[in-house]
This record gives sequence, structure tokens and C-alpha cells, in this order.
Amino acid sequence: MRAVVARRHGPPETLTLEDLPSLVPAAGEVVVAVHAAAVNFPDTLIIEDRYQLKPPLPFSPGGEVAGVVKALGQGVTGFAVGDRVIAACRWGGFAEEVIAPPDRLAPVPRGVGMAAAAALMMTYGTTHYALQECARIAPGETLLVLGAGGGTGLSAIELGKLMGARVIAAASSREKLALCRDRGADETILYTPENLRNEIRRLTQDRGVDVVYDPVGGDYAQPALRGMAWGGRYLVIGFTAGIPKLPMNLPLLKGCSIVGVFYGAFAKRFPARYAALRAQLVDWLAEGRVRPAITALLPLEEAAKALRLVAGRQAIGKIVLTTALGRGEGG
Ligand SMILES: NC(=O)c1ccc[n+]([C@@H]2O[C@H](COP(=O)([O-])OP(=O)(O)OC[C@H]3O[C@@H](n4cnc5c(N)ncnc54)[C@H](OP(=O)(O)O)[C@@H]3O)[C@@H](O)[C@H]2O)c1
Repeated sequence: MRAVVARRHGPPETLTLEDLPSLVPAAGEVVVAVHAAAVNFPDTLIIEDRYQLKPPLPFSPGGEVAGVVKALGQGVTGFAVGDRVIAACRWGGFAEEVIAPPDRLAPVPRGVGMAAAAALMMTYGTTHYALQECARIAPGETLLVLGAGGGTGLSAIELGKLMGARVIAAASSREKLALCRDRGADETILYTPENLRNEIRRLTQDRGVDVVYDPVGGDYAQPALRGMAWGGRYLVIGFTAGIPKLPMNLPLLKGCSIVGVFYGAFAKRFPARYAALRAQLVDWLAEGRVRPAITALLPLEEAAKALRLVAGRQAIGKIVLTTALGRGEGG
């Protein structure tokens, strides 16, 4: 089977495309024949050894895929060879085969394409957990989404609307904001660290926003925190623009909370709750209530190009890689 392999840590260009032996499942494992693999920002970090997950070398990046069950290890129940599944595999997904434990698999709903299924768990899963469990967002509240034209950002627009929030999307280009509006954003901000606070004030008549969803950090975090309403919840999702340092008087003055969101740790610590949230997401995907915004389907061979686009802030929405099995299946 072919796989995109990191033999040493480094930028996307250091990855190699290799022919490797087919995978054999150990007891309790499932081998999935990959049709589609979504590209996420953490994939750009894991290959450079700048992420909290540190797989031993050599490894393939790729944290989530959709495909077909190819082989079952001893003792696996609940799945059969031939089942269409989503796998939240953490790494190994940029390959024609990947191994995952059954508790990280979910069925691909009938009528849903493999690319859309592959692009569900990491972004929408994180956001579902963030908005519902961490922020307990209520209908009518105002949600500000930073980096709103990216993978997690677009999922926050869609799920925010689904949960009844008024959504303000902030991103760095008109093209990204056009997609945000298409996906349901009520208002948009073409943001810079300098204009963000005033734009929030303008759009909320000085009241501020109830929830901030921040996958960006850097110099955007402080103006966003300053733009919060009393009792607000600031969701710390990620740091594509760097890890910010924030003055501790701000949460006091705003009476607000800063809440860390670590979806992977949540999944490990609370497997039953994780499975329940995941089942809800899969239902929403089946009903068409969430629609991953796939803007590019690239062949597996172009994994380095896809990672470069994501790391370089050029990607809009989701990029999904397809294997030979997944080609021609569409989004
Ligand atoms: N907490 C969790 O459990 C969890 C789970 C999944 C992902 N994450 C994290 O969430 C973050 C976003 O992931 P994603 O998949 O949504 O990424 P993405 O699709 O690449 O979107 C991230 C957005 O960040 C903005 N950005 C600002 N400065 C940037 C820079 N210097 N380089 C790249 N992007 C920059 C870009 O929007 P603008 O150009 O509009 O600013 C970009 O669209 C990552 O840090 C990831 O590790 C966390």
C-alpha cells in the first residue's frame, strides 16, 4: 500500500511517498482502506514535531479519514469487513490503509460522500464539544469566530447557527469571508489585530460578544478578549498565529471565563460522552444540517502541497486528499 511517510521531522517537502507492506491488525484493531483523508492544521505541526502528539518515526501524518473496513483484529465486534467508516486515527491517515481502534470509528451515513465524512470529526467534533460542553452557548447569544474561513472556524459558524447563536465571522480576506457568509455567518469582520476590538464594539453596540471561538491566538487574542460581554466565555482552541500572553486583569474586569478546549483529551477521559457527541454529529451530517466546506480535493500524492497551503494561511475551508479508491467519488 502507498503512504506519505515522515522519516525525519521537517516541513512538508521532507515527506516521501512510499510503497509499504499491507497492514495487519493486532487484536482489538481495525484496518481501514482509506478513500479520503482530511487535512488539518495539526498535520502541519506533527510532521515538524511541534504538536502535543508525538508518534515515533517513521510515521504518516493524517488524523482523520473515511474508508472501508478491510480487516478486523481478534475480538473486534460491532464492525464487519466492507463497512463504510469514519476513523479518527490521530495519525497514519495519509496512506491507502490505516489502523484504528473500534472506539475511534463511526459509520458513514448512507448518501454521504467519503470526502465529507473524512472532514467531520476533527473540526466539527472539537467545535461541538467547545460550544456545547465548554461554553454552554445559549440561543440568542453572540458568538465571535476568529480564523472563520478555516476548518475549525467554518465548523463553528455552522454549529453556532445550529445552536441558535448570532454569529460574527472574522477572517483575513474577502474570499474567506464570502465563504463564511455562505455558511451562515450573520456579520463579518475583515480583521487585523488593530481593527478587531472596534469592529466588535461596532457590531454589538458596545455590549461585546458572549462567546469567542479562537483557533488563532497571536495578536488577535487580546483585542478579542477586550471585546467580550460580561459573563462571556473565551474558548481557547488553537494558536495558528502563535501562543498569546494575556493580562490577567481582563477576565476580572469582564467577569468572563477563559476556557481551554482539548478535544483529544476529552475523548480519552470521557469516552461515553465523546461517543454520544460523535453520534449526534454523524446524525447531523446524515440530515444535511452540517456540510463540511470542501474547497479542494487533491490526490494523496499531493499531500505536501496541501500541507503547505494550510500552513501558509492560503487554504480556504477544507482540503481533502483522495486515494485511488476514493477518486471520482466527489465531495
Ligand atoms: N483544541 C483542540 O482540541 C483542537 C482540535 C483541532 C484543531 N485545533 C487547533 O485549531 C487551530 C486551527 O485549526 P484549523 O484546522 O481550523 O486550521 P486552518 O483550517 O488552517 O484555519 C486556521 C486559520 O488560522 C488563521 N491564521 C492566522 N494566522 C495564521 C498563520 N500565521 N498561519 C496559518 N493560519 C493563520 C487563518 O485565518 P485568517 O487568514 O483568516 O486569519 C486560518 O484560516 C490549530 O492551531 C489546531 O491545532 C485544536
